[in-house]
Amino acid sequence: MMQSTAKAHTNIALIKYWGKRNETLILPTNNSLSLTLDGFYTKTTVTFKDELTEDIFILDDEIISGEQYRRVTVFLDLIRTYAGKSGLYAEINSINEVPTAAGFASSASGFAALAAAATKALGLTLTDQELSMLTRQGSGSACRSIYGGFAEWQKGKREDGIDSYAVPIAPQDHWDIRVAAVVLDAKMKKVSSREGMKRTVDTSTFFKGWVDRIPHDLNLIKEGIEERDFEKVGQVAEANCLKMHATTLGAIPPFTYWHDTTMTVMQTVQAMRENGIPAYFTIDAGPNVKVLYLPENEEKIQETLRNVPGVTDVILSRSGQGITYL
Ligand code: DP6
Repeated sequence: MMQSTAKAHTNIALIKYWGKRNETLILPTNNSLSLTLDGFYTKTTVTFKDELTEDIFILDDEIISGEQYRRVTVFLDLIRTYAGKSGLYAEINSINEVPTAAGFASSASGFAALAAAATKALGLTLTDQELSMLTRQGSGSACRSIYGGFAEWQKGKREDGIDSYAVPIAPQDHWDIRVAAVVLDAKMKKVSSREGMKRTVDTSTFFKGWVDRIPHDLNLIKEGIEERDFEKVGQVAEANCLKMHATTLGAIPPFTYWHDTTMTVMQTVQAMRENGIPAYFTIDAGPNVKVLYLPENEEKIQETLRNVPGVTDVILSRSGQGITYL
């Protein structure tokens, strides 16, 4: 039977991917760097069957249709073409251990697990780089989830994208750095990351400044990771996140992912630092905040963040592993 099961963890970007140079192939305007998280993952089984006339996608025991289904089948088409197996359809069964409430996009772990399971089910043996390159075309940030620990997505130069993939920077056990996902009670009109980054690239007067500063941030953070220098890594990550979010304010029409509680959490983190507890924040395309901290401060961090008005939950995570096959 052409079946395989793979598990992939989500990741949090410390240097953000924000902007595409090619929307079809998902080629970014800048390198990005992330930490894979152990707390949040997707487990996917892909079974190719001769008798199927179309793909079936089941997520958390529910049959999925619409845009979510379309993205999965379009991505599988790509893998089918790559494997020379057009016309062979699959049943895809996914379980998401990424609480949507935690504000992590499940697309990173979702597409990484799907790519791994589908290619394996079709008998392809790919290098990590090839798998990452393929995964990128499902969702950009997913290409970093192939690896555990820290990974960098190299934007590449080529038009065909074959040099745009992630590479490992430091393995899961390199450093016990942790992330608290701070969940807010925030109801907002959603601008998806896909739509938000497009509007920014097309219209933001601050976009050039964002792209120009990436090599500087990347060099510093890689030094910090190698030296296990928490302050260095935290400072660069927080500043990089603020620059990414600044680009949205320069877009036409302008927008922001921040909610008033987002600001309160950011100020709480900065206040903790003033009181001698090292902690730094980062924020993706949504109102929730992720806080970087070290194990010795876990209790204090959790307690302080839980007490912020408007915070509904604080979910803790460690450095996670790369793709595994079950
Ligand atoms: C803000 O990977 O979700 O989380 O490539 O269009 O699927 P697509 O976008 P996606 O964007 C993630 C943006 C981000 C930053 C990051 O993870 O690097």
